[in-house]
Amino acid sequence: MAAELTISCIKADVGGFVGHSAIHPALKDEAGRQLEIARRRGMLIDFHVTACGDDLGLLMTHRLGIDNHEVHRLAWDVFDICTRVAKELKLYGAGQDLLKDAFSGNVRGMGPGIAEMTIVERPSEPIIVFFADKTSAGAWNLPLFRMFADPFNTAGLVISPAMHDGFRFRVLDVRKGTTITLSTPEEMYDLLVFIGAPGRYVVERVTAKSTGAIGAVSSTQRLALIAGRYVGKDDPVCVVRAQGEFPAVGEVLEPFTMPHIVEGWMRGSRYGPLMPCRVGDAHPGRFDGPPRVIALGFQIAEGQLIGPRDMFDDPGFDEARHLCNVIADHLRRHGPFEPHRLPMEEMEYTTLPEVMKKLADRWQPVNGHAVSGEVVETLPASVAS
Ligand code: F6R
Ligand code: MG
Ligand code: MG
Repeated sequence: MAAELTISCIKADVGGFVGHSAIHPALKDEAGRQLEIARRRGMLIDFHVTACGDDLGLLMTHRLGIDNHEVHRLAWDVFDICTRVAKELKLYGAGQDLLKDAFSGNVRGMGPGIAEMTIVERPSEPIIVFFADKTSAGAWNLPLFRMFADPFNTAGLVISPAMHDGFRFRVLDVRKGTTITLSTPEEMYDLLVFIGAPGRYVVERVTAKSTGAIGAVSSTQRLALIAGRYVGKDDPVCVVRAQGEFPAVGEVLEPFTMPHIVEGWMRGSRYGPLMPCRVGDAHPGRFDGPPRVIALGFQIAEGQLIGPRDMFDDPGFDEARHLCNVIADHLRRHGPFEPHRLPMEEMEYTTLPEVMKKLADRWQPVNGHAVSGEVVETLPASVAS
């Protein structure tokens, strides 16, 4: 049997340049130097360092499997060393996503975002790696649904015998820490019950029913739930395999022609459209946004990452970008009002509760009838009955 290959995509915000808009080239250079040492030692087969907004992304290939201690330690150490560089340059929020003081075996739950998959490399293996900034893990729900379950997006679901059986989606309930696996097309409506609420339910992975092979994996960590307070956005990553039993490259990219509205813009407090952009434009500046997504395409050859091709560097996405700006203008005019601002329940994960706490004593019961913060019936008995 062919050797298994693991693709590990691990990212963290360890310092922004300027503010939270982008990263300094020195961080990418340092990360590249560190990963090159690991490659020469034979631990990695190949790697690529990138950035989306203020997040540093490490893409690595190796034979060590997912959740591997050495690979996770390497990523942690790279982020740690880059934090030192960020501190020297006094970059903004140096070390922001490293939520624990010391590495403890696995970077899961320690701050960095992780998407890993182990595959048997096909005769030709195209993959697309997505990185987003100013949003959270649920941002992939809609595009993953479109790619793998929506025949209006993916022609292959209808006309390709290799895809016609459909896919399985594993969904994580980020609050309870439980997962459910649902099969499309037959459980499509059940799937939408959950993934239509991307703040709580997040698509973790997608597998092909025809072969059982993994087609997509995304990072699912929610920083606020790990830290217990607002510490910046999760800024998720997602790895998708293309062609053959999986959607074609164009079917993988097509969902991003509809700039869907995601949470996470400005202070993690606003909804905004997700703008597909080329890597050189992945530096959100307007109101710290709008949220960005980049797509790096690779062909894998015996674990080597041939690429990247900057997949959104294509005039075919110009209209999506234009529409993003139109939607952004309209939402921005709502200022501090919903639905630009997140609903109260989601604002719990921002800095707003600290402000609200100061005003807690100023609330007066209506007619002196409020009991422990709850609204009570104040109508006269004659009217109420
Ligand atoms: C960061 C982000 C930014 C910051 C904002 C305030 O991911 O989305 O919009 O939340 O720039 O940053 P602080 O609180 O660091 O001053
Ligand atoms: Mg940041
Ligand atoms: Mg970020």
